[in-house]
Amino acid sequence: MADIIDGVSHTFNEFLLIPRLTTKDCTHGNISLTTYLTKVSDKCDLDAMRLNIPMVSAAMQSVSDARMAIALAQEGGLSFIYCSQSIEEQCKMVRSVKLYKAGFVASDTTLSPKDTVATAMRLRAKTGHSTIAITENGCNNDILVGLVTSKDLRLSRIDPNDSLDKYMTPIDKLVVAYEGISLHEANDIIWRHKLNCLPIIDRNKRLKYLTFRKDYDASKKYTSQLVDAQKRLMVGAAINTWDYMDRVPALIDAGADILCVDSSDGYSEYQFDAIKMIKNKYGDKIKIGGGNIVYPDAFNYLVEAGADFVKVGIGGGSICITREQKGIGRGQASAIIDIARERDALYQRTGVYIPICADGGIVHDYHISLAIAMGADFVMLGRYFARFDESPGKKTHIGNQVVKEHWGEGTKRSANWSRYLDTGRPDIIFEEGVDSFVPYVGGLDENLQITLAKLKSAMISCGAKTINDFQKNALLTIVSPSSIVEGGAHDLVSRPMME
Ligand code: IMP
Repeated sequence: MADIIDGVSHTFNEFLLIPRLTTKDCTHGNISLTTYLTKVSDKCDLDAMRLNIPMVSAAMQSVSDARMAIALAQEGGLSFIYCSQSIEEQCKMVRSVKLYKAGFVASDTTLSPKDTVATAMRLRAKTGHSTIAITENGCNNDILVGLVTSKDLRLSRIDPNDSLDKYMTPIDKLVVAYEGISLHEANDIIWRHKLNCLPIIDRNKRLKYLTFRKDYDASKKYTSQLVDAQKRLMVGAAINTWDYMDRVPALIDAGADILCVDSSDGYSEYQFDAIKMIKNKYGDKIKIGGGNIVYPDAFNYLVEAGADFVKVGIGGGSICITREQKGIGRGQASAIIDIARERDALYQRTGVYIPICADGGIVHDYHISLAIAMGADFVMLGRYFARFDESPGKKTHIGNQVVKEHWGEGTKRSANWSRYLDTGRPDIIFEEGVDSFVPYVGGLDENLQITLAKLKSAMISCGAKTINDFQKNALLTIVSPSSIVEGGAHDLVSRPMME
């Protein structure tokens, strides 16, 4: 007969946090939400990747495209761009995140010194930008020779047939900065020299970006941006276990910072082989996470394959019907707690710490606090991000409610991309997800700030200033069904609906 695990498997809703002593230094301003994203060893943590907030967006068509990835990396999190699309399309998304530089703008109004004022006027009208970068042959990424601004063309006697070299401020009279400078340093130069525009060039004097004074406020807003060594926003990419031989090198070439295998059941030889091969061949270039799993034996298996982090959760996702269809899964809270214990035991034995990601089933903001208190290092969310302006789903109405589309990766809709391509992807015989809607709630930034404030408040109540303190100090309790009722608003007469 089959083995049966002792005890029932629990979900987030069945837990609450018990407050620990809140010390006076435990304030919102003093809390760090930085957390490990990849493997770290006692001996050296220089190589480990970190997140600035413990949240990543799910590798789903309705969640993580380039727009979402940019918005989330600006806040300190990370998106895993979905792999249910062609390798070319996925690489294109990755590239556009890597090329995006908040505050560093690639000039779209570039001409050569021999172009005429009339051409400049036409281009300015087309792009809506008044600053014209002048390069030797009029292309971006060419040697910068000057700038023409509105001020230069405001002179009374301008002949539209004059060439721009007559009006431009030449390079030797411009303040410029070199590629690699941080936005903070660029803004300092702008203020010090009272500039409106600071061109950024490389060592060969080729134009890379323009930085504008007017963008300063926008860039100041994002103090926790997740960036790589070259100050580019970071982005992850999902892979599958059948075309990784081609997909992985292409994603590395496109600039992906980290990979994760996207699978509803990660305890498989397919995944072991994929992770092992990628670690052997590309381990010096990129890190990779494995999953999804719900039991410690599977955690050890993926760690042995070389996983840099492990994703936990089967059957708990908002659009997921894996449990109904296959009878496979486990209450997400029990899965996280058991695997976190195994992870901690591994660390005690070896000094190697493998971060775990709680993936799926996060409904309320406080579930994020619970997942971390239970031992997760970060959480992956689909439904949460699908509700925002930045998600790819279409906005529509159901009755009076504004909603956005949200569908699972295990639906035929998601699988459709490979129908006419020779990908070797097995056909879907039955669906493991649904095609549905989520309530639309507005922009990512405003909503995320509220979620993070709640997480910080929970940490303050538990006397924790860091994610690591929180995991170590938290005290959790299982609640009875009647205390769940007690926890909501109850025994009240509802206000009548106003006309
Ligand atoms: P959510 O945050 O509750 O919406 O869960 C998101 C997670 O659900 C994803 O990160 C995946 O692990 C999982 N998921 C995505 N699509 C499907 C599906 O079609 N079936 C089952 N699970 C899915």
